[in-house]
Amino acid sequence: MTRILFVCLGNICRSPLAEGILRAEAGDRPDIEVDSAGTAAWHVGKAPDPRSIAIAARHGIDISRLRARQVCLDDFSRFDLILAMDAANLEDLQAMAPVGARARLRRFLGRDVPDPYYGGDDGFADVHAMLEKGCKELLAEHGNAT
Ligand code: 4NP
Repeated sequence: MTRILFVCLGNICRSPLAEGILRAEAGDRPDIEVDSAGTAAWHVGKAPDPRSIAIAARHGIDISRLRARQVCLDDFSRFDLILAMDAANLEDLQAMAPVGARARLRRFLGRDVPDPYYGGDDGFADVHAMLEKGCKELLAEHGNAT
């Protein structure tokens, strides 16, 4: 079993989209569990940004029922892999990680997934394409369930 947590700033744009994509790509694989969270608390309890919901829906994925939450200390023991969207998210996670935490932390794509919040719809399409490619590679890295 590999438990994966995607983390961005607000948990309404990038990380819920990554969660939806990975869950869809993983299909019925019982060995992958996925969740998402934000380093900031501003949007806790809210649905994803309508632009993330729209780009996911265009690819046949429904993320409308996800609700934002903030990263908590438990996450560092519950998850195997915590994947940050950008360098600032990674720094925040490293600063709060308990000593000897089980979870491995890294930037998901080895480079920043740009924050699309203040941009236009193109930003969300670009983010979607980056995340989809990254999710496919991640699943390939983690082998096949069967
Ligand atoms: P996310 O995008 O981190 O991908 O969810 C953001 C959402 C909200 C804000 C910033 C980034 N904000 O400043 O409220």
